[in-house]
Amino acid sequence: MERRRVYIETHGCQMNVADTERAATRLRAAGYELTDRPEEADVVLLNTCSVREKAEQKVYTRVGEVRRLARRPLVGVMGCVAQLEGEALFERAPGIRLVVGTRATDRLPVLIERAQTARRAVDLGDRQEGERWDVSPVERHSPYVAFVPIIEGCNKFCSYCIVPFSRGRERSRAAREIIAEVERLGELGYREVHMLGQNVNSWRPRTESERAGLESFAGATPFSRLLRAVAATGMRRIKFTTSFPRDFHPDIVTAIDEHENLCNWVHLPVQAGSDRILRLMRRGYTRRDYMERVAAIRRARRPIALTSDIIIGFPTETRAEFEETLSLVRECEFDGLYIFKYSERPGTRAASMADDVSPEEKRERFLQLEEVQREIQRRRLGALVGQELEVLVEGTSAKSAEHLTGHSTCNRVVNFAGDGRLCGRIVRVRITEAKEHSLWGEVVAEVA
Ligand code: 5AD
Ligand code: SF4
Repeated sequence: MERRRVYIETHGCQMNVADTERAATRLRAAGYELTDRPEEADVVLLNTCSVREKAEQKVYTRVGEVRRLARRPLVGVMGCVAQLEGEALFERAPGIRLVVGTRATDRLPVLIERAQTARRAVDLGDRQEGERWDVSPVERHSPYVAFVPIIEGCNKFCSYCIVPFSRGRERSRAAREIIAEVERLGELGYREVHMLGQNVNSWRPRTESERAGLESFAGATPFSRLLRAVAATGMRRIKFTTSFPRDFHPDIVTAIDEHENLCNWVHLPVQAGSDRILRLMRRGYTRRDYMERVAAIRRARRPIALTSDIIIGFPTETRAEFEETLSLVRECEFDGLYIFKYSERPGTRAASMADDVSPEEKRERFLQLEEVQREIQRRRLGALVGQELEVLVEGTSAKSAEHLTGHSTCNRVVNFAGDGRLCGRIVRVRITEAKEHSLWGEVVAEVA
């Protein structure tokens, strides 16, 4: 009997979520059925992440689990681990029959067929000209919030990072496609889009005529022009991530000032507070450069929420250098911070340096930084009590059916009592309480 039902499990970043949506769209168009129950599936695809070792290890555990499901599904690996490991995965985890690289998602239907007939299939090739980016609304992770990739891959080669290897060189999507997609999403009732890229500031028009097409929008960089062009579609809320500090031009802040629908949130990963470590990381900016970007963000007309990523325990990082990270975090007062312990990734430049900060020391630095940030966050979230935030109602709260949950324009999670019929609406919520990672409040008005 033909195997037709596919389950896709997504690990890792928003780019993987977007790839899963795109893969599901292609599969359904080819006649496959998508299911969210692995035990019902004939084909199980794991969309994987390799940014840290722990994430990569998870793949092998999951393969072991899903291959034992009663229906004995055909197991495939897609995403970053697939791209990096390639055919070696067949040896590493018997049971895998399909390996689909990060730029081969559009060819999934053919590849599944090939794995069924030939037993195994692998495709680590590039995207082909004319492959489409569109995603059918039924495959989107939310009926109100849509991810719109604007650039894939990364050319930065930060010394610790595997992404330039797993996702390849930068490839910008055509402006006209991005704008058309956002317009279509607006017509379909989406209220918020996230423009995605490992590094959105590197977005470039692909042709001269495209560049000319954006001329009617002001902007000091191609990305800030694109931001204004997307704002002009009238989409209610527009967020974008991730921004790369060196290329973060203050004109982005100006664009946010000009357009109410460009949301007041910037994710700007700093990674470290010491100039020596930043140099070893090959980030291309100093602490001072970073602080200048932060100052520009803080000068905006609306308060802009600022979040960041930090790696602790990079090779050779001393205690004193770690303390520079602590002082930077105190200075920046981030609204949210993701802290990672350095994880050696084979093939990167940093992997040739000894991973010499001991696990105990990494743990200690992690906890210390977390504590500093917890205090800052408590203060910053606490300062919002009594204020009103505009929240997109995204669903009922996981913890209680009478509570609704959504994100503010500044990307904070806000919970409040309310009727499920408000889902998809934008409401003004007065904040009454700040918990560690979320805000609670009451609806004062429906806005749109
Ligand atoms: N080890 C630890 N953290 C890493 N990140 C990327 N590569 C590594 C690594 N090898 C973190 C960075 C990046 C985030 C997505 O993951 O902080 O911004
Ligand atoms: Fe990795 Fe640096 Fe590219 Fe971000 S900018 S994806 S950290 S190489």
